[in-house]
Amino acid sequence: MKNLNQILLEEKTPMYIFDLRILEDRIKYLRSHLPENIELCYAIKANTFILESISGLVERLEICSPGEYRICSYLNLPSKQFVISGVNKEKGFIEELISSEQPAGCYTAESAAQFEMLRCSAAGNKKRIDILLRLTSGNQFGMDEGEIENIIKKYRDDLYVNLKGLQYFSGTQKTSLKKLSREIKYADAFIEKIKIKYGFDFEEFEFGPGLPAVYFDKAEYDEKAFLKGFSELLGSMGFGGKITLELGRSIAACCGTYFTQVVDTKCNCGENYALVDGGMHQIVYYGQFMAMKKPEIHLIDPRQGECKEWNICGSLCTANDILVKKISLPDLKAGDILAFCDTGAYSMTEGISLFLSRDLPKIILFDGRKYTTVRQRFDTYILNTPKNY
Ligand SMILES: Cc1ncc(COP(=O)(O)O)c(C=O)c1O
Repeated sequence: MKNLNQILLEEKTPMYIFDLRILEDRIKYLRSHLPENIELCYAIKANTFILESISGLVERLEICSPGEYRICSYLNLPSKQFVISGVNKEKGFIEELISSEQPAGCYTAESAAQFEMLRCSAAGNKKRIDILLRLTSGNQFGMDEGEIENIIKKYRDDLYVNLKGLQYFSGTQKTSLKKLSREIKYADAFIEKIKIKYGFDFEEFEFGPGLPAVYFDKAEYDEKAFLKGFSELLGSMGFGGKITLELGRSIAACCGTYFTQVVDTKCNCGENYALVDGGMHQIVYYGQFMAMKKPEIHLIDPRQGECKEWNICGSLCTANDILVKKISLPDLKAGDILAFCDTGAYSMTEGISLFLSRDLPKIILFDGRKYTTVRQRFDTYILNTPKNY
């Protein structure tokens, strides 16, 4: 079995490794610190490379685009697990799904028109579908209370749509229990209002709490206490139906490491710079404004000696391409490999990958025994040219 050092010697950086054991442990950890009857829905936008492993570890997968759906169906994941979400549900795509022999588990409705499209497609195919009505948090997503009430009044006994539940998501990386408390109370009160006003009970509440991944200042965050507080909030809800938590970042972040190699070093006007072969087009830490905060970074094969303050910069032609400023590391030289931790969520999908036509990084999965390459480095120049290749 090859070890990490061999892999790093043989493979070219930049590269991601996703550790599937860490992923599994993370889900166990979350489950053991959340109320027992909670189900988990993984928002696959966070990282699609870990889907084969995660599918067996969570109850549901949230899919927001035809592309995400194609990945899941290519992997033969059970379609009953899918909730088809997103503000732009193309008619042809919805028709394909609803008419399919392997229908999705449920759909969210983000607007009255989207609801109508789903209902018409279900009726046209003589199929009954489950729908989660998305309540807005005051932006372009979901519907306001009045719109949801109109749908309930009109379609609560419809032959083709089952108004199964309410969905609510207001943003990511929330570290405030106060904010979560306000959101939970708001959704709970709305569910109660619907019950009193229309005698209508939602079966399910699918809630995206945006639980945080801790990238910086780890010692200052007590995750156990946070999850305990969050669980108490869920437990205090009047709603007695099924609760599903839609999570991405807090599940996947910790399983990923991004490896990038120093290609040059210099001291400009008294500041030390290490240029690496990766960059901000491939790695994103939420909240890392101006590279001021310090994520966990390791030098592979660290050596003895005095540390210096380094600015780690990527390969793009922009002064913004700084991964971290003033981090204390030994005397770096070309060829050194840096490992950026907690990069399992969003990083490799959120970056501005086409800028400068640099290759997309290689992706490797590690299951505790072996390393499996699931994507080779990928040329992007073919996507950035006016010619057909
Ligand atoms: C509707 C919805 N649910 C869940 C998530 C996952 O959020 P997070 O990664 O913060 O858990 C997102 C992320 O954008 C989302 O849009």
